[in-house]
Amino acid sequence: MRGVGSSNLPVPTNSFKVPPILLNLRLPKFFDSAVKALKWRLIRRLLPVADNAAEGDAASLPKSIAPVTREKSSEGGIPVKAIRTHGRGGPKELFFEDAALPEVRPGDVLIRVQATGITPTELTWDETYQNADGTPRVPSIPGHEVSGVVERTAADVADFRPGDEVYGLADFPRDGAAAEFAAVQATNLAFKPRSISHPQAAALPLSALTAWQALFEHTHLVSSQSVLIHGGAGGVGSLAVQLARWRSARVVATASARDTAFVRSLGADDVIDYRATPFEEILRDIDVVVDTIGGETRERSWRVLRKGGVLVTLVSPIPTGVAEQHGVRGVFFIVRGDRGQLEQISTLVDEGKLKPVIAEVLPLARAREAFEHAAASRAPGKIVLQVAA
Ligand SMILES: NC(=O)c1ccc[n+]([C@@H]2O[C@H](COP(=O)([O-])OP(=O)(O)OC[C@H]3O[C@@H](n4cnc5c(N)ncnc54)[C@H](OP(=O)(O)O)[C@@H]3O)[C@@H](O)[C@H]2O)c1
Repeated sequence: MRGVGSSNLPVPTNSFKVPPILLNLRLPKFFDSAVKALKWRLIRRLLPVADNAAEGDAASLPKSIAPVTREKSSEGGIPVKAIRTHGRGGPKELFFEDAALPEVRPGDVLIRVQATGITPTELTWDETYQNADGTPRVPSIPGHEVSGVVERTAADVADFRPGDEVYGLADFPRDGAAAEFAAVQATNLAFKPRSISHPQAAALPLSALTAWQALFEHTHLVSSQSVLIHGGAGGVGSLAVQLARWRSARVVATASARDTAFVRSLGADDVIDYRATPFEEILRDIDVVVDTIGGETRERSWRVLRKGGVLVTLVSPIPTGVAEQHGVRGVFFIVRGDRGQLEQISTLVDEGKLKPVIAEVLPLARAREAFEHAAASRAPGKIVLQVAA
């Protein structure tokens, strides 16, 4: 495995070659952080085009987001541009600033990120602010859907090579992909669908895996069955509708009046305007409910299921005994990375049977806006941050 200081330094992409003597500069340890900063400053001087581009991004930021220059990085290591949250409190805690190049652990792939998908609720998740052992991780980088190019791999990873185009799901209790580089477990990655761009691919991993696991792992949906998908125009719902249709199930979805025609175009047989019509008054004997909404929507959903049916919810655990009272099965789960499933999703995309649904693509520096838009009622699908042009 090659480390920082090798030819894989995270210099912005252009045709300029940094002289090897500069990249391989070695000085006594006690000079380490000062030397790294100096080294990076020298490299920047040699990269005027890319450097100007980075400054351009910073200059176009909304005034409320103060960019931190690379020289101000206080964490050691080679700084990379990133969006980081400095604590709970929503989008206003997000800053476009420098972060250290991510640590590449055993099993990891270091990805030069091209685009990342955001999930509206991720700024409320504990995992966004904690490591797997519960220790705090602030500031932290959001964005768990990644599409990009392999920069290098850990020594124990043989499945991918530098230059491979990959997409996948970054682990939740680790930094995400709203940055120039992200380290992701190789088992959570697959080759990106060839027929779509990086921003389109970045809209898929979390939502498509969640929809896949809800329909085919936790409920084993088959073609003769009916499924009610709540939030059929949302990030998860828009893919669940397409996957259920691909499985030849009968698909009913709920959505806003604005989105009913769109959800029908994805393959839903019927779409119910959730503000106008109480779905529980018109639906009976449904085999499967996919609940992306929770709360009273979930409470009203039990009664539309047939005896022995199943409700799978993404939002919160189901209290013990509730599903049993209704004579059905209830499942709450958290999505996990799965290369085999991502490969099947890639195949469906390249065959034209599944398409990502994108509400908006914004540049990385405008992440705060992206999360603000995500929290509001908006166009169907995912919001994606484009990291590289
Ligand atoms: N457990 C897991 O592993 C997992 C994985 C992924 C996501 N999630 C969770 O799943 C939820 C959905 O995620 P997402 O990314 O799909 O969200 P999203 O993109 O915001 O989609 C939500 C959709 O639901 C619609 N909606 C809102 N209220 C509704 C209602 N009462 N009835 C029917 N539709 C309604 C919204 O439409 P309007 O905006 O027009 O109202 C929007 O189209 C979030 O809570 C997320 O945290 C969990």
